[in-house]
Amino acid sequence: FAGMMSIQENLYEIFQQAITEAISDITDPPIVITLANNVKFGDYQCNSAMPIANIYKQLGKKIAPREIATSILEKVPTNPMIDKLEIAGAGFINIFLSKTYGMQNLNTIFEKGLLPPPIDKKLRVLVDFSSPNIAKEMHVGHLRSTIIGDSICRLLEYFGHDVVRINHLGDWGTQFGMLIAHLQDQFPNYLTESPPIADLQAFYKESKARFDTDAEFKKRAYACVVKLQAFEPDHYKAWQLICDVSRKEFQKIYDRMEIVITERGESFYQDRMEKIVKELEDNGFLELDDGRKIMWSEQNVGIPLTITKSDGGYTYDTSDMAAIKQRIVEEKCDWIIYVTDSGQATHFDIIFKCAKRAGIVDFHKHRLDHVGFGVVLGEDKKKFKTRSGDTVRLIELLDEGLKRSLDKLKEKERDKVLTEDELKRAQESIAYGCIKYADLSHNRNQEYVFSFDKMLEDKGNTAVYLLYAYTRIRSIARNANYTPEKIATIAKTVSISLEHEKEWKLGKVLLRFPDVLLKITKDLCLHHLCEYVYEIATTFTEFYDSCYCIEKDSSGDIIKVNNGRILLAEAAALIMHKCFDILGLQPVSRM
Ligand code: ARG
Repeated sequence: FAGMMSIQENLYEIFQQAITEAISDITDPPIVITLANNVKFGDYQCNSAMPIANIYKQLGKKIAPREIATSILEKVPTNPMIDKLEIAGAGFINIFLSKTYGMQNLNTIFEKGLLPPPIDKKLRVLVDFSSPNIAKEMHVGHLRSTIIGDSICRLLEYFGHDVVRINHLGDWGTQFGMLIAHLQDQFPNYLTESPPIADLQAFYKESKARFDTDAEFKKRAYACVVKLQAFEPDHYKAWQLICDVSRKEFQKIYDRMEIVITERGESFYQDRMEKIVKELEDNGFLELDDGRKIMWSEQNVGIPLTITKSDGGYTYDTSDMAAIKQRIVEEKCDWIIYVTDSGQATHFDIIFKCAKRAGIVDFHKHRLDHVGFGVVLGEDKKKFKTRSGDTVRLIELLDEGLKRSLDKLKEKERDKVLTEDELKRAQESIAYGCIKYADLSHNRNQEYVFSFDKMLEDKGNTAVYLLYAYTRIRSIARNANYTPEKIATIAKTVSISLEHEKEWKLGKVLLRFPDVLLKITKDLCLHHLCEYVYEIATTFTEFYDSCYCIEKDSSGDIIKVNNGRILLAEAAALIMHKCFDILGLQPVSRM
């Protein structure tokens, strides 16, 4: 591996070594490495001396943190990464990075390309995301799951993991009884002619109304479920027809947003549900409760799963138990990630614990994550709804995004400069980019306010600002008439320039790229990446305001090109581009 080194991780190892040597009388002394928040205090800091002094104090030894810091410092060997170390304040160790090291590290981008940090082992990761329900609305919550899930897949794919993208479609269950019964009444010829259902939601509402008021219909609906679950051909066919209508609608959204996902809905698990119920039953994990069969993750602690209902039917819990087993045993996954609203956190917590209890997963070998997210609110801070109070149709939301982004481009009179094709690409890049970015840039654990006005602003941490910043950076090399090939040739003999204070400031931000990615693989919070690209863009502006890349004479002819700075700009552009890739944004060369 000869890509960019992860600085924080390397410092951690260096200091871990030094601290264990210096503090031999404490087992596992705390290793604390942070980013310095003021250049006066270096670039990074080791803040271990204070907690170590506290441990000594508890052991009855009084040693000043500064003294501890000194003994740690003595054990840190000279390292090409570190320019200088100093002790400050109560016992902080300030770490100053070496510019030569920074230069070499950034130059690897031109030698090897922008490589991800190396992984110990290629993992098989299944990401369960999007997962709307047939015949019901695919709402903004599912949009959030789609955007976050896709971005997590992109990140893990970049790392080189083996990622399986799964759409756990809600395509099975009791609601199909009434849908099928209603279909049989409305379109008796459904077996020979495909039924023209234009609006499946309306169709669902009609069938639900009949189900709630007509006892005869209700009975038939129940009978239909039983037949469907026994795979009776005519009922199966009716079910397929209904699913197809939904599927086409969902696909339109995925296509527009360039989301790749494989459908494997709840129906896929029907026979596996039968098997898992039997298996849990045989192993004594199930308990009878008022006709239901339930499973506790720990006897009488928390809420149990409902494995079968009193009528013998299966539930959301049953399908998730069958699915987790299929994913671990058949798919041989090392890591499973579920992306749903935070409201389902308890559900997944219990599923994970029950899967452990049943011996399906082993937390030493498998990693399981529920990636939850907060609700989407409208600008009135209430649940996101249309003016009339209906749920917002996603396709209409995307259309509005397109319309607004075009208005924005026209407002800037870009329609007069760009070709028709360029305009269309800019419009789509902005529309889908801003919807995705607005979502990803908010801490997913919090609720977030959906506002086209905010997301289309061209100042602040928005997709529009960043996409423009990126095209501006790209245009620097273009203005110098440098092709990518030429830049690659220059990089063979010239080093990235880091001498000027603002160059070094930008360089240090760029050097953090591997660390930012590593942090996100731990907490799966994409807003760190958004904050990071935004920091690149703003730091770049500072650099560009005080450092010439190209000098021109009064007639506009180029008199001098600073190649080291062109390389720095190029490195910034490459890293920004990779961040966009991970966030699912598509930069365009002109906008
Ligand atoms: N269909 C569910 C919903 O709309 C989400 C499914 C998430 N995945 C899972 N394995 N339970 O809430």
